[in-house]
Amino acid sequence: MKVDLIDLKYRYLDEHEQILKSINKLLKKGNLVLTDEVKSFEDNICSFTGMKYCLGLNSGTDALMMALWSIGIKKGDEVITTPISFIASAGAIAHLGAKPVFVDIGDDLNINPKNIEGAITSKTKAIMPVHWGGRICEMDSILAISKKYKIPVIEDAAQGMGAYYKKQHSGSFGLVSAFSGHPLKNLGAIGDSGFIVTNNRKIFNQIKLYRNHGLVSRDNASIFGINSRIDSINAEILSFRLRKLKSVINRRNKNVKLYRKYINTDKVLIPDNKKYEVNSYVMFLTLCEDRDKLQKYLLNNNIQSLIYYGTPLHLHEASKVYGYRRGNFPKAENICKKVLAFPHHQYLNEIQIKFVCNKINSFYKNY
Ligand SMILES: Cc1ncc(COP(=O)(O)O)c(C=O)c1O
Repeated sequence: MKVDLIDLKYRYLDEHEQILKSINKLLKKGNLVLTDEVKSFEDNICSFTGMKYCLGLNSGTDALMMALWSIGIKKGDEVITTPISFIASAGAIAHLGAKPVFVDIGDDLNINPKNIEGAITSKTKAIMPVHWGGRICEMDSILAISKKYKIPVIEDAAQGMGAYYKKQHSGSFGLVSAFSGHPLKNLGAIGDSGFIVTNNRKIFNQIKLYRNHGLVSRDNASIFGINSRIDSINAEILSFRLRKLKSVINRRNKNVKLYRKYINTDKVLIPDNKKYEVNSYVMFLTLCEDRDKLQKYLLNNNIQSLIYYGTPLHLHEASKVYGYRRGNFPKAENICKKVLAFPHHQYLNEIQIKFVCNKINSFYKNY
């Protein structure tokens, strides 16, 4: 048996009729940029997340950059964030000329709110929690710090669609939040895409202008912006997939329950969720003893797995300019040596999961 890590092929087989219908509809219409489909996608996201405004964009990275730009982040500012994320989290901050100030993580693999206050300086202009793997950060504590120091929260909710914290959807805690519609996200397009949500009309208007070259009319740009419009085909496909998102996340949570049931070694740690969380499980992250050997063993048994990621953000070459060193964030560094994502998508069945677990168990049997 071969077990794939991800589901893109299966997803297409399942949804191809609807996807081809959407492509056909849009191409026949002869208009593919900022059409009604984009507006209705944005309305659908607002209804789903409970937010007032949404704007469809080119990517989650653009969404993050524009979120930070819209609150005035600029050269010389500092933004507090986590070293455990995809590089885009730090890159978005750096591209605006600001410094990503990392603080270490907690057992939930997210930024540890206890470390935030100590990192605040007069230059701190935002706190940017990342909901890693689809698990929302401890938002009550983060919002309390934000309120105390009057520093806004910008959520990197790239992985957060369908995740809840105390019944509130991810992205609805910050002043403005960024989501990714990358094909591997739970709400993924058939190419790159992203979007922001906010309740702030001024921020909405600024980003709306910026994503379309700053144009207020065909012949007048009030600012110099960029082209970061979501394309209409992807907007339409995301609207269709949004209707299925709850069931996708239920399936993903069921997978994790099965993994918990069948893995019977204490060498694999599956972080526990709190009762008030709904984890959207974009990735199924575990912490494994002797991770690299396990990964090889699984591959030899036709089971894919992936390390998300082997290097914390502060140890990337690009972060050297800020003077970060090994040892700065021991918890994050340690996690990077152990983290492994097992096969996990909504088309996996119990037999496949059991097969993977049996192999994991047999790897550790004589350990
Ligand atoms: C946490 C996080 N932030 C930002 C991004 C960037 O999103 P995109 O790939 O859509 O640009 C990603 C993408 O994987 C992500 O996982």
